[in-house]
Amino acid sequence: MRYILGIESSCDETAAAVFSPKRGICSNELFSQISLHAEYGGVMPEVASRSHIQKIHHIVSQTLAKAQVTLDDIDYIAVTNGPGLPGSLLVGLCFAKSLAYAQQIPIIGVNHIHAHALSPLIENNIVFPYLCLTASGGHTSLSLVHSFTHQETIATTRDDAAGEAFDKVAKLLNLGYPGGPVIEKLAQEQNFQDFFNYPRARTQELFFSFSGLKTAVLYHLIQEGWYNRQTKQFTQNENQTLKAQIASSFLVAVKDIFASRITLALQQYPQITSIAFAGGVACNKFLKQELQKLANQYQRPFFAPRPAYCTDNAAMVAFAGYQKIITGQIDNETLDLIRW
Ligand code: KG4
Ligand code: ZN
Repeated sequence: MRYILGIESSCDETAAAVFSPKRGICSNELFSQISLHAEYGGVMPEVASRSHIQKIHHIVSQTLAKAQVTLDDIDYIAVTNGPGLPGSLLVGLCFAKSLAYAQQIPIIGVNHIHAHALSPLIENNIVFPYLCLTASGGHTSLSLVHSFTHQETIATTRDDAAGEAFDKVAKLLNLGYPGGPVIEKLAQEQNFQDFFNYPRARTQELFFSFSGLKTAVLYHLIQEGWYNRQTKQFTQNENQTLKAQIASSFLVAVKDIFASRITLALQQYPQITSIAFAGGVACNKFLKQELQKLANQYQRPFFAPRPAYCTDNAAMVAFAGYQKIITGQIDNETLDLIRW
């Protein structure tokens, strides 16, 4: 097997990558639609699908060129077939199926969350079974990764995803989209202190919930007269310190929620060898440091992929596809979106 082309279009990144068992990740290209969605404070599905259609040819050509290969060198195509925005996923899936048909090569459907949970393995050797916290704009889950091709989801979110909470709190504070990076920057200005002690759902059950935290921030702002419900505007826009204090308190609450769920998972599944953190939220240096500390406390190694493999990317899709290929899990021309 020479090269695998990976294609990812589940949300707001049009991405393609080339993986080779010998060379590893040879290229990893993407077009990010952030600027297209910024004015809405979140991803607009219709806008996302149209942008994928416009960019996908270019991104695939670019990734082949960067890897210094042509379509004739590609032996397999791995493509995300869910979960995600159906209109967006269909662009990548149809493009991948057409290429596979034209080139007469096999195609492999890859589950987006599984690909995130395997992403820490792209550049690390981790002993199975490890625990992966995957947190992004669309999903938050804890998976037990038993092998390259077998994962068990042990917790998901009952409402908002963690990244979505960052984006919604950022919107409340007029900070723009995406919220994660700017909230982290402001929180750092306040040395990641907790000023407002927002409530963390304390439960002994393994699930996530972030909508309560977001609502607690909103009610706090309303109660203090810092948010006008009618105009839906933050009234303290010039008060940089206050914004940073709110951002910092919110980030510390997210850290505590993550830490408590991981601790619970370790108690329930003592066979967990290591802790991994993936998805866009895993770009957050503070959260990585704090989860590293937690892992040390429980004497487990901690892994997080480099940022380019945390946010949505096709390297993880090509890599996860490769694992399916070598275990014979190859799809055919009837490949469809998964049901979720
Ligand atoms: O994985 P990703 O690119 O796309 C989805 O699958 O959703 O994740 C994007 C999410 C956004 O919600 C963004 O606010 C969040 O990841 N994010 C962060 C940081 N960088 C990106 N959240 C917290 N801290 C960050 N530094
Ligand atoms: Zn994702």
